[in-house]
Parts: sequence; structure tokens; C-alpha cells
Amino acid sequence: MQWVPAAPIFSMKSSSSSLSQPISKKLKKPEQVGKKIPFESLKAVFATLVNAFVNSAFKFGENHTILQGNFAPVDEIGEAVVISNIEGQIPMDFPEGIRFGKTNKDNGNTSIFQHGKKVYTVAEDHLPYEINIANLDTYGSWDINGTWNRPFTSHPKVAPQTGELIIMGSDVKKPYYVLGVISGKYIILTFIHFEKDKESRIGVMARYGDAESIIWFQVQNHCTFHLINSFEDGDEVVVRGCRTTGSFIPGPSYKTDEYQWYQRAYRYTSIESEGFDPSVDSAIFPRPYEWRLNLKTQKVTEAFLTGTEYAMDFPTMNSNFLGYKNKYAYTQVLDSAVSSKSGMPNFKMFAKLSFDEKEKGNGQFIKEEYHRLEEGTFCSGLQFVGKPGGVDEDDGWLVCYVHDERRNVSQVYLVDARKFSEEPIAKITLPQRVPCGFHASFIPKDSFS
Ligand SMILES: [Fe+2]
Repeated sequence: MQWVPAAPIFSMKSSSSSLSQPISKKLKKPEQVGKKIPFESLKAVFATLVNAFVNSAFKFGENHTILQGNFAPVDEIGEAVVISNIEGQIPMDFPEGIRFGKTNKDNGNTSIFQHGKKVYTVAEDHLPYEINIANLDTYGSWDINGTWNRPFTSHPKVAPQTGELIIMGSDVKKPYYVLGVISGKYIILTFIHFEKDKESRIGVMARYGDAESIIWFQVQNHCTFHLINSFEDGDEVVVRGCRTTGSFIPGPSYKTDEYQWYQRAYRYTSIESEGFDPSVDSAIFPRPYEWRLNLKTQKVTEAFLTGTEYAMDFPTMNSNFLGYKNKYAYTQVLDSAVSSKSGMPNFKMFAKLSFDEKEKGNGQFIKEEYHRLEEGTFCSGLQFVGKPGGVDEDDGWLVCYVHDERRNVSQVYLVDARKFSEEPIAKITLPQRVPCGFHASFIPKDSFS
């Protein structure tokens, strides 16, 4: 049996002043050594060590832009309201849904998903929280009946044929990565890279395989936060995602001029340009990318799918095609000029990507169409909503929050996916500003209790 000090060794405060003292000065007095430590205290010690590490490794500065414009927090109305301010017409067969208002506390702020007739909010560093979608009450965290005790991905996927929820969770302690339920023949594992001069790999694991059975493919160094889709195509597993060469986490390093860093990182600069620095230039200029992993030859073919005119991220697609070969995806297009000034990603329009068609006059890149927004208007939370009974993959609508910074008005746009460049078929004016967010979900009303 191991005997350890009785009380937490370090203060739980993680302010820079408390951490600036040498760790040895915070050791408890000798008389406390020798008592058995409760489990909760051990956990507290561990949490403090992690805090100490993070605070010593990264310098968090105040970013004033997140308190301005549509990035600023908003007071929620706090109750369900009827919205009747609608331009255009919502199609009769548009699924009946409900708007989700995110809470701004307890780390459930990154995304929302529905499973088993229940709705959850989630962030990458905590268990999901079950919420009441009707009044936004929080019921508590969901540990999957006691079987999940680690962080939970903000991007769980639902297998279209079985309804199974595919989850994962990464942690700073072993096991570093755990995968949950899966459907389909293969599971695609990708790892985010944000250290320059290191390797990136993509792993493919058979559905009933284990960690030992993963086939690893070394790929060009990259950072991909959001995958579009993965599927089997003959001997190959195809992975598509919005790829960058760097990461906005943790952002510019301490002592770097933040303004200059974002100016360079959010804009495209050719690698041939004089003074090109891969650690900053175009580092967060994401573009759709494809990796083809040949399971027979173990070879990788990889390339960008679109040119350098626009950066785009936050992909969405018809969820019935998740894990299957898909023809279309939709992304939010970055306003590089505005983002480089604000240091926050502002998205100025949507793009429709047609993977099986080539751009006119260009055999290299795929076809792109755009739904442009007015000047000073930005979008957030783009989602594809399939038409009930729809047959074709793009039979449906794009639904998205759109905020006009000049008028301070938030609306929801409905765009016909097959008439993508045309005017929205409906614009729903919301009773108050909806701040920029990370992700959104469209949850049909009949899919929750
Ligand atoms: Fe995300």
C-alpha cells in the first residue's frame, strides 16, 4: 500500500501569481506526511498539476475582440418565444424544429447533439450535459450509465443505418484516446497536429479491431479540426477534411505581435514568397483536402481539393451519407480580411462543394458554388437539413444563423441546396442577437422527447 501526503500539495488556484512561486515552496509541512490521502484529494492534486503545466506552457492574454460585435456575450431571453418575423416562405415540408440557445457556463458551449430522444450540449473537455430543449434547463452531466469517465468529443457522429452514436475522448493521462461505439467496416482515427516539424498520421481501424490492429499512414504535416467525411472506395479509405498547416490553439506565442500574427495567419501566402514562414504564414487558412489511404499498398495520395482564393471550414453534409461516398458538402467561407483584423474567424458566405465535378477550366480542383451574404453580414452554425422523403443527396436546405453587424440584427437563413446561389427562400428574424458560435445542430422536433 502506498502512503502519500494527506492534503492537496498545491493550492487549487491557478493564477499566474500563485504559480510563479517555485513548486517546492508549496509543499505541506512534514507533520502532514504519512496520512492516507483520499481519492478526491488525489484528483485535486492531479488537476492542479495539469493547471500548473498549462499555465507555464501557455500565456493567456485578454483578447478584446471576443467582447465586441457579435462575439460579445448575450443575455438570453430565458423562455420559449414565438417568432413570426419571417421574410419569404418556409417550405411546407421543412421539418419542424426548434432553436437551440446555448448556455455559456459549465463547459457545454461547443456543440449540441441528440441521442436516444434526449438532447445534450458538449465541449471537448467534459462530459455532455443533458438539457431540456423546451426551456433550456440543465439536467446534469451524462456519463453513459457510468461507463464513460473522460472528456467527450464535440463531434459525435450518428451511423445513418443503425443510429449508433460514435464517440471518442482524448485526455492528458492514459489511455490518451478512447473510442466509443462505431458502425461500418472501418473507423477512421485522425490526430490533430500543432507542433511544427512533427509527424502527422492517420490510422484506420477495422470496426471490430483494437488498438493493435490500427493501420497507420504517415501523411504530410497538418492540423485538421473538422473532417467532412470518410468512406471506403475500393482498396482505399478516403478521408476529407478542412486542413491547415498550423493551429489557432494556443495562437500567437507570447511576445509575438498578435495583430501581425493573425494578419499573416488568416491570409493565403504562397510558399514561394520571399520571407515565407511556415509557422505563421497561411497557418490558419483552412481548405478542403483529401487523403486516399490504400489499404493494399499502404500508399497515400493527398491533395487540396480547392484553390487558394478562399479559406473555409465548419463543413456540413447530408448526414444520411456519413461513412458513405458522398457527392456534396457545404462549408462556411472565411472573411480573411476581417478575421485577420479581429483575430477571430468571421465567415462571410457559404460554399457548396461538388466532389465529382471539376471546376470549369481547371482540371485540378472540384466545383465550388457560393451563397454570398451582404457586406458586414456574417454566418455561424451552417447545417444541412434533408428534405423528408428526398432521394438525391442535395435534396434539402442549408439553415444558418446570419448576423448583420451594421443593423445588429440576427436572422436564420434557409437556402435551397439545389439553387444554392439564389436568394434565401426564407429569412427568419430572431427576437435578439445570437452571438457567433462554434457549431449548431438542426434537431427535428419529433426526434426528442
Ligand atoms: Fe469543432
